[in-house]
Amino acid sequence: MMLRFILLLASIGIVFCSQEKDFRIRTNRIWEEVEEKQFSGRWQDLETSPYDNVIHFDGETHLANVKQLTFGGMNAEGYFSFDNSKLTLQATGYGTDCDQIYELDLNIDPRLQTLRRISTGLGGTTCSYFYKEPDNNHRLYAGNWWNVKIDDKTDVSKTCPEKKCANPQTDELKQLCNTSYTWDIFPDYDIFKVDRFGNFVQRLTDSPGYDAEGVVSPDGTKIAFTSIRSKDLELYIMNIDGTNVTQITNELGYDGGSFFTPDGKRLIFRASRPKTPEEIAKYKKLLSYNLVEPVAMELFIVDIDGKNMRQITNLGEANWAPYMLNDNKRIIFSSNKDAAANGFGAFSLYMINDDGTGLEQITFGENQFNSFAMQSYDGKKLVWGSSRNGTMYELNLFIADWIDYPNATVSSSTSSPTTASPSSSTTPQAPQTSTKSSSSLSVLLIFSLILIACF
Ligand SMILES: *[C@@H]1O[C@H](CO)[C@@H](O)[C@H](O)[C@H]1NC(C)=O
Ligand SMILES: *[C@@H]1O[C@H](CO)[C@@H](O)[C@H](O)[C@H]1NC(C)=O
Ligand SMILES: *[C@@H]1O[C@H](CO)[C@@H](O)[C@H](O)[C@H]1NC(C)=O
Ligand SMILES: *[C@@H]1O[C@H](CO)[C@@H](O)[C@H](O)[C@H]1NC(C)=O
Repeated sequence: MMLRFILLLASIGIVFCSQEKDFRIRTNRIWEEVEEKQFSGRWQDLETSPYDNVIHFDGETHLANVKQLTFGGMNAEGYFSFDNSKLTLQATGYGTDCDQIYELDLNIDPRLQTLRRISTGLGGTTCSYFYKEPDNNHRLYAGNWWNVKIDDKTDVSKTCPEKKCANPQTDELKQLCNTSYTWDIFPDYDIFKVDRFGNFVQRLTDSPGYDAEGVVSPDGTKIAFTSIRSKDLELYIMNIDGTNVTQITNELGYDGGSFFTPDGKRLIFRASRPKTPEEIAKYKKLLSYNLVEPVAMELFIVDIDGKNMRQITNLGEANWAPYMLNDNKRIIFSSNKDAAANGFGAFSLYMINDDGTGLEQITFGENQFNSFAMQSYDGKKLVWGSSRNGTMYELNLFIADWIDYPNATVSSSTSSPTTASPSSSTTPQAPQTSTKSSSSLSVLLIFSLILIACF
């Protein structure tokens, strides 16, 4: 009896101690018990006025009922769960200096919920995605928490990986950082499977160098991701359990931000492929410092067996963050192709057919940043990140009803000559009355603050 009691005490002690010990690298706030904080944040919907021309610009006929989902900070890369009930996203600004993974319940008014953190809070993270499961129990994301050294005195919020150009050590790097916009390709990023509380389940990659940008296939059996294991940034596909890694692309340059097409047969991605000897030399030099320069990107598509690789766009500037709509034909993406007129940091959403025809502008508004669009799996919604209705340094997620063919549904939009048919317009319509809520400097800032884009 006594022995049992001692054993019981001991096991309680062990449980408490082990909880204490790994508390800092767990985020498992039991969210049902967290008292929901009342946000005093802004919120828009059809009942709110003013509505049009505040966050919904003239010309945006594919979008209706635009709603703001986050309210401050840098929120990006929101992905739907397969049942469209939740969003997993990455954000900087809720007590951390670099991106952590958070979750939003789309069935609850976003003003009334606290973003639930999924990642550990240690180090940096990027690119999360839901597993395809009836109970949405698992997600994946990339991060370097496994390689962060901490002790009792560590301020966890200060464990972000250092951007190379924040403190360049060599003259060569100083020169490179002076003359380039760079994204860091953090070499200790690996992809992890976690449960819905953020608890570690499985390490999915362990090769040296950057592994990130993981996305789950529509049938839930595969993961596509970006890796530098071949010494260049290429796309790979593996089984959902991390086995059977297969290389898909094999050309010099940054192939990244891939998504499965809704039919699961192809990967849509963006690539930055240096051509001239000077470009190649600069690409290799930057990569030797784990840096890339995301200023020239075009869209590509490839079968999941690596065959039939095709370049879709040839627009110049940065064309990225592609996502294929569930007709398996049209691709929504972000571009600053009119950078000469609008400034390098001004990005709008566009749509194009997978054969490169039918370019159409989706978002408008002067000097705005719009990117990271994803259509819900039922085709009804579009979620994306935008600087609209924000101040400098702000990138928020928005959700809208997706109007496939606005010519048939929107009748009140008399002022907008925006073409209805996705294939008839090649000249984007100039923004009309736009509410200028951020300067081109701020959108440039947003683009350069984005560390890594899963898209
Ligand atoms: C970086 O640029 C600044 C201003 O353009 C210049 O003063 C400085 O000398 C440059 N440094 C290097 C290392 O090129
Ligand atoms: C491994 O991947 C290859 C190429 O995608 C595929 O042909 C093969 O069936 C896969 N094997 C297993 C066991 O999943
Ligand atoms: C966002 O929109 C709301 C509602 O129209 C408005 O009150 C608020 O001032 C806007 N915020 C910014 C920063 O533009
Ligand atoms: C709207 O556009 C679609 C796609 O091009 C077309 O099939 C449809 O007939 C158009 N509807 C109207 C009312 O013009």
